[in-house]
Amino acid sequence: MCGIVGVIGKAPAAPLLLEALRRLEYRGYDSAGIATLVDGHIERRRAEGKLGNLAGVLERDALPGTTGIGHTRWATHGAPTERNAHPHSTARVSVVHNGIIENHAELRAELEAKGAVFETETDTETFVRLVDDFLRQGHEPQAAFAAALRRVHGAFALAAIFSGHPRLLLAARQGAPLAVGFGEGEMFVGSDALALAPLTRRIAYLKEGDWVAVDGEGARFFDAAHQPAERRVTVTAVSGAAVGKGNYRHFMEKELHEHPAVLGDTLRQYLDPKTLEVRLPRLPFDPARIGRLTISACGSAFLAGMVGRYWIEQLARLPVDADVASEFRYRNPPLADGGAAILISQSGETADNMAALRLLREAGQRVLSVVNVPESSMARESDGALLTVAGPEIGVASTKAFTAQLAVLACLAIGFGRARRELSTLDEGRLAQTLLEVPSHAAAILEQDAQIRELAMEVAKARDVLFLGRGAMYPIALEGALKLKEISYIHAEGYAAGEMKHGPIALIDSDVPVIALCPSGPLFEKTASNLQEAAARGGRVMAFTDAEGEAALRRFAERVIVLPRIGEFATPILYAIPVQLLAYHVAVLKGTDVDQPRNLAKSVTVE
Ligand code: G6P
Repeated sequence: MCGIVGVIGKAPAAPLLLEALRRLEYRGYDSAGIATLVDGHIERRRAEGKLGNLAGVLERDALPGTTGIGHTRWATHGAPTERNAHPHSTARVSVVHNGIIENHAELRAELEAKGAVFETETDTETFVRLVDDFLRQGHEPQAAFAAALRRVHGAFALAAIFSGHPRLLLAARQGAPLAVGFGEGEMFVGSDALALAPLTRRIAYLKEGDWVAVDGEGARFFDAAHQPAERRVTVTAVSGAAVGKGNYRHFMEKELHEHPAVLGDTLRQYLDPKTLEVRLPRLPFDPARIGRLTISACGSAFLAGMVGRYWIEQLARLPVDADVASEFRYRNPPLADGGAAILISQSGETADNMAALRLLREAGQRVLSVVNVPESSMARESDGALLTVAGPEIGVASTKAFTAQLAVLACLAIGFGRARRELSTLDEGRLAQTLLEVPSHAAAILEQDAQIRELAMEVAKARDVLFLGRGAMYPIALEGALKLKEISYIHAEGYAAGEMKHGPIALIDSDVPVIALCPSGPLFEKTASNLQEAAARGGRVMAFTDAEGEAALRRFAERVIVLPRIGEFATPILYAIPVQLLAYHVAVLKGTDVDQPRNLAKSVTVE
């Protein structure tokens, strides 16, 4: 993953680079560093750990220079130490890199045979030494950079500065995003428009395989065949305003409390509250004419896709194949001509899902993406995009973006049902009405915070936790387990309630909380029986249900949290909120780094 940024400015570059890195820290926070040109020579400052450590280093040891590059790292090759932190430099060139150079071992051996001495275990250093070798042979920076690019394989973005060239910055994109920002007599490059937004809103995106030579006045683009190319400058809609926590302790807490507004905004986008009709923009495929639909996503977005599968199959009678992108892309899936796919992603940059997108398009599929970042690679490269109106999500664990994805998928399922004549206008109105009740019920759930915090006190003592659900509640059980694992580091598993007796029941004893997602409805009795099986073995059942399910569960459950009653269709959206809130409170009680949990990153741009 990693975030990269570069500046050719009028003022000192270091503070600008640091600010841009703050906005890129969601990509990784193992270490950070910047390099600038000082009197024509490369100088750098680096620090292990979060960006705050680098800021401290710069305070003690300022870095002058108006041209520079910066990096925030999510370690792939080499431990997250200061020595392995970017930028990586020789006396001639300094490089920041996002992604993986796959043939690094082979190149390293070749360069070592020529006498190069490596300082780190990183794949990045191979590129640095390769460029350095071409420079040593007398090539100009541009020729050396281009020659080195021809030798490296993998998915990456790179930016480089060169000794003796105070107004030159070279950057390349191959599988990882890169944007060029145009200022007034200042130029920028960055992993995304968000990083550059406080500096400029005039942005050009590199296309796949492009590289660019930037000076203080402008940029010259080259395509994958190294031919000069034109790339359009657009004005980004991304806000330059800093995203703050407001009065909340953590971004995650703030984002959890944004659920009602985000759900309202997203539903309003695709649902007419007056006519109770779903209004979808023109889709890249006709849902009435497709025989099968593929859904691909990663992490929580995949779990949203699983719920989407239940909804679309039920309402539109359309077979859906939902898979995690990292499996989908390598399993050589048989895809019928004229097929269609939905990709789901908050960032719109996740590497495996981007690869799935390219595979799908090469296989002639029409691809619709559901994304939160309108200018993301996925939104731009898909045949159509539906936006989740969640706003920037900073906490690494997805919260409001997840429920916004569900809201869009719910509207799509209704729209598909209507297009395929499986839903009557009456059904559509009834389902739309149910969805419109979600935001106010979400607000009511957030008011149950104290109750959920009490439950969290019990869960925080556990070593293992089981989440159970049936039907569209099963993916929400998986979401509950995923959230708890990633931010509190407690081992948790989500299971289909009916499947529990085929394995996880062996784990059950009086130390294992069994958290049940059990709204009233057609699957209630079945789930309740599975919970009784757990209780009969000493399991501590803690259930989320509604007023109708309460009495039956109280007979054997240790705790019952009664959530607002809503039509069965919308329960996955609503029940996602308390399980996320539960994970949040457990993490706070355990004292973990809620917004930036260990080893994780928000945008996963390596496969
Ligand atoms: C990371 C994040 C998750 C997210 C997943 C997919 O693992 O920590 O919160 O669900 O990536 O990201 P995407 O941006 O594609 O939704």
